[in-house]
Amino acid sequence: MKLLVINGSPRGNRSNTYKLTKAFLSGMKENADAAGEAFELVEIQVNQLKIHPCLGCFSCWNQTPGNCCIHDDMEEVIQKLLWADITIWSFPLYYFTVPGGLKNLIDRQLPMQLPFMTENEKQTGNGSHPPRYDMTGKKTVVISTCGFYTAEGNYDGIYSLFDHTCGRDGYTTIFCGQGELFRIPDLSQRTDQYLGIVRKAGMEYFSGRILPETVAELSQLLYPRETFEAWADLSWGIDRQSGEKESDALTFTRQMAVLYRKESYPGRDQVLEMYYTDIDECYQIVMGKEGSRVVTDGSMTATTRIETPLSV
Ligand SMILES: Cc1cc2nc3c(=O)[nH]c(=O)nc-3n(C[C@H](O)[C@H](O)[C@H](O)COP(=O)(O)O)c2cc1C
Repeated sequence: MKLLVINGSPRGNRSNTYKLTKAFLSGMKENADAAGEAFELVEIQVNQLKIHPCLGCFSCWNQTPGNCCIHDDMEEVIQKLLWADITIWSFPLYYFTVPGGLKNLIDRQLPMQLPFMTENEKQTGNGSHPPRYDMTGKKTVVISTCGFYTAEGNYDGIYSLFDHTCGRDGYTTIFCGQGELFRIPDLSQRTDQYLGIVRKAGMEYFSGRILPETVAELSQLLYPRETFEAWADLSWGIDRQSGEKESDALTFTRQMAVLYRKESYPGRDQVLEMYYTDIDECYQIVMGKEGSRVVTDGSMTATTRIETPLSV
């Protein structure tokens, strides 16, 4: 099995999405190894390639059929696309579509098509170009994270792109909201659990298809919308009223506070006092029946006090 991963995140290896892609690959590889099937993997980091934008000259159709007039890294990418049995497109959602660098790569696939007008009923039924090369049996997986709380409703542009190019049932997707949480070590309990499901999806995909139960698990939010959005707003470290940068210790304390689950209310308010020894700052989290709040003037009587350097 020949696998091509196209990582279209400008962050390269530090991409959130790439974490999902690696989990998916590890699941596929485990089942490939168990089945004794060869697993050849080539990864393309789009941010390390020189791929110029398409010039729109159509010379790849009428002057030098099959060959672009721009000679850059795209020539190699086309060879890899033709080589692979399965291509995994891995990218963040940018303005409800793909990042610019990846869009250049997508546009530059034009030499892979013939110019003639045709209809491919498996696609969307509103015009198509025939492939220049035999792509029969090749498969496509699309993996993406986005920044809003849910992937639902945010991927219309991506679905449209792949519906037109691969056909409506011609590709497999994993789309995940709250993508920035994958880079927060403190939240790894939840994100690792999700990556475990992605890994399972990879194993199932190798064996034929991702099972409906797994698809349902993948569509679960990482955190409830309210918790995520409160946490995300705080993550910028900016005071909501003034718009100015606030103390890192205060931001951190507020982020801890939004993770409080009021269902665990024990019958009376608890006050967690955080004293950051290295910067001499103290904040209190009041955890009550209706939720939590942060007190900055130290006016509450602490139930529990934690003394720690902020760096810890
Ligand atoms: C320029 C830009 C545009 C973005 N547009 C969207 C968007 O339209 N919808 C969304 O939910 N998230 C959007 N995001 C957030 C990213 O999709 C999100 O942070 C993602 O997890 C980054 O993944 P990566 O680490 O793999 O690059 C955008 C981020 C940037 C920098």
